[in-house]
Amino acid sequence: MPHAAKPVGQATRGKTALNRLRQIDVYMALAHPGLLRGGAPLIVDVGFGAAAWTTLEMRTRWLGLNPRLRVVGLEIDPLRVAEALPHAHPPQISFRLGGFNVSDALQGEKARLIRCYNVLRQYDEDAVKPALDTMSLALEPGGILIEGTSNPSGRMVVFDLYQKASTGVINHHSLVFGSNFRALIEPADFQTILPKRLIHRMRDPLPAAFFAAWQEAFWRTRHLRGIKAQWISAARLLQARFPVSLQPGLLHRGYLVLRGSLQGQP
Ligand SMILES: C[S@@+](CC[C@H](N)C(=O)[O-])C[C@H]1O[C@@H](n2cnc3c(N)ncnc32)[C@H](O)[C@@H]1O
Repeated sequence: MPHAAKPVGQATRGKTALNRLRQIDVYMALAHPGLLRGGAPLIVDVGFGAAAWTTLEMRTRWLGLNPRLRVVGLEIDPLRVAEALPHAHPPQISFRLGGFNVSDALQGEKARLIRCYNVLRQYDEDAVKPALDTMSLALEPGGILIEGTSNPSGRMVVFDLYQKASTGVINHHSLVFGSNFRALIEPADFQTILPKRLIHRMRDPLPAAFFAAWQEAFWRTRHLRGIKAQWISAARLLQARFPVSLQPGLLHRGYLVLRGSLQGQP
């Protein structure tokens, strides 16, 4: 029997919640439906947590786009894998022991999408790049890796999308801020749930300039009625200074999409 590779990473708190990652699922269906269509794509949820909910919900939400898609939930905690197994229905739904070395858990198969949510926030900042690089080895060319953080309910989310090029490298594609308009008060609220690579960098010139510009745009639109109207108008003002998408199907649903990583110089 081949020796199973040791999962790379460390066990962390397993807190999750029903519908916590709904905004990420909806975003992918709206913004990248083509990625999920075609064939029987393999989708991997790294670190599904103390219950299998988010992995199962993700599949249910995307079945309309592709009834053949398959999901694999990976956990570094063997007990959490054991507790998820009654929900498995292979090959459509499986749960396996695994870490950032997703390739080992997939035994040679490639994933079209890997989601790693509310996992890296519990690691040190210098663990982020090696973890992303390792996970991306399991992606097929053109595949997407999502890494992000949410608040406990999932009403506010921030995530990075990376896409694998045909050369094998992953490139940062976009940074997405999502709100269901119920928890959001103002842009600064997102600062506590930034991806780990950014959360300690708020005083760096580019993130500081971005949030100052967004915050200012919010203040300038404060006369508008309702957070949604303010969100949309503020994005229009912000676009003069930062490459944010004004695509109504995303913006009106509570997603501000920045084509950039906020790393480097303004
Ligand atoms: C806070 S929970 C997140 C659960 C779910 N993704 C969510 O957002 O609600 C983090 C989970 O990631 C798991 N984890 C931590 N490092 C991991 C790794 N390298 N590979 C797989 N799972 C990991 C932990 O065991 C924990 O159950």
